[in-house]
Amino acid sequence: MTISSIVKNSSENIEFKSIFIRPFDSKKGPMLTWVYRYPRKDITKNYSLEESVKLLDELIGHRFSQADMYCIGRDYFLKTDGRERLTVKESKTEREATGAHDKPRQRMVEESAGFLHLLEVTSADGHLRKDKKDKFIQINKFLEFFSVAVQGLSGPEISVLDMGSGKGYLTFAIYDFLRKRAGARVRGVEFRQDMVDLCNSLAAKAGFTGLDFVQGTIEGYDFSETDVVIALHACDTATDEALYKGIRAGAQVIMVSPCCHKQVRKSMNPAGLYAAFTRYGIMKERTAEMLTDLLRASILEIYGYETRVFEFVNSEHTPKNLMITAIKKRESAAGQPEAWKEVEELKAAYGLEYHHLQRMLAESF
Ligand SMILES: C[S@@+](CC[C@H](N)C(=O)[O-])C[C@H]1O[C@@H](n2cnc3c(N)ncnc32)[C@H](O)[C@@H]1O
Repeated sequence: MTISSIVKNSSENIEFKSIFIRPFDSKKGPMLTWVYRYPRKDITKNYSLEESVKLLDELIGHRFSQADMYCIGRDYFLKTDGRERLTVKESKTEREATGAHDKPRQRMVEESAGFLHLLEVTSADGHLRKDKKDKFIQINKFLEFFSVAVQGLSGPEISVLDMGSGKGYLTFAIYDFLRKRAGARVRGVEFRQDMVDLCNSLAAKAGFTGLDFVQGTIEGYDFSETDVVIALHACDTATDEALYKGIRAGAQVIMVSPCCHKQVRKSMNPAGLYAAFTRYGIMKERTAEMLTDLLRASILEIYGYETRVFEFVNSEHTPKNLMITAIKKRESAAGQPEAWKEVEELKAAYGLEYHHLQRMLAESF
């Protein structure tokens, strides 16, 4: 019995990136709700089973390359290369049936996922712990955007580095998501040894053989290749370090949700009219945030990344809800001085001595 399915888009021409489908009982009988996910909005439509089958037939293998179906007891992951070659992977789940009307909203990570219990996000009886609700929602939303960002990645194995992985909530979720679709190597880099030890022992308990954690700083972690770099709330310049490492390693996808923005706040000193932005503490704080992340996004664009900046989760779940996603699409223009014009003008306007990411890149390339 299908609980819901996600159809993922491989075409650049369709505006919506994915569709979430779930069943419901209407007066006319069983129906399916289709939620079309656009970058900035959702559109919902209801279709009969017959209509849905027809639509799926038109979409899968033509405009979409991947469909995931979550069922009671089993999940199915379908992939097509667009040349009529279909592969279906199957995996067992502990999901239980629920009534059609009291069914929880379909999420990327189910509360029943075994690793959530190991990480103490859920209790022994499989219920979400109250104090972990916000984190659970954050990793679900992060994963939703992650699943779209990595759609274009091919290869037998996807490698991901999670910078400043902390207790590993997101790292485990990313690994669990990827291992069902392709081979995955996911590594958390974390300063705190106690977190690293805990996460490694829980990864072993979960049987997540492609997931590990290493102790060290992001800046000190040396690697030359990875497909994806992510960082969720890596403090202040740790986010810049993660971006820098991703750019330098030529990562195809970089996703960060920044935390505090001390470096820019301390080093900016706008003159003239722009000085008004720093008159009140909270405005200075927000100006520093805007400037830091705008410069980060601009720098990613210069290095050939198609970049988006948006709120990935409602602010009630975390005030640090900005996300920067960057997908490598072009050659870097960093060697051309005119590419830096806007960055330099912004820095001059805000009297910003330096931007940490720019400085590291300038010293490295
Ligand atoms: C706010 S926590 C976020 C943890 C995790 N990403 C999450 O969202 O659940 C930030 C983590 O990054 C680690 N961290 C901060 N700066 C770091 C650095 N420069 N190198 C390695 N780890 C760092 C901290 O020890 C902490 O565990």
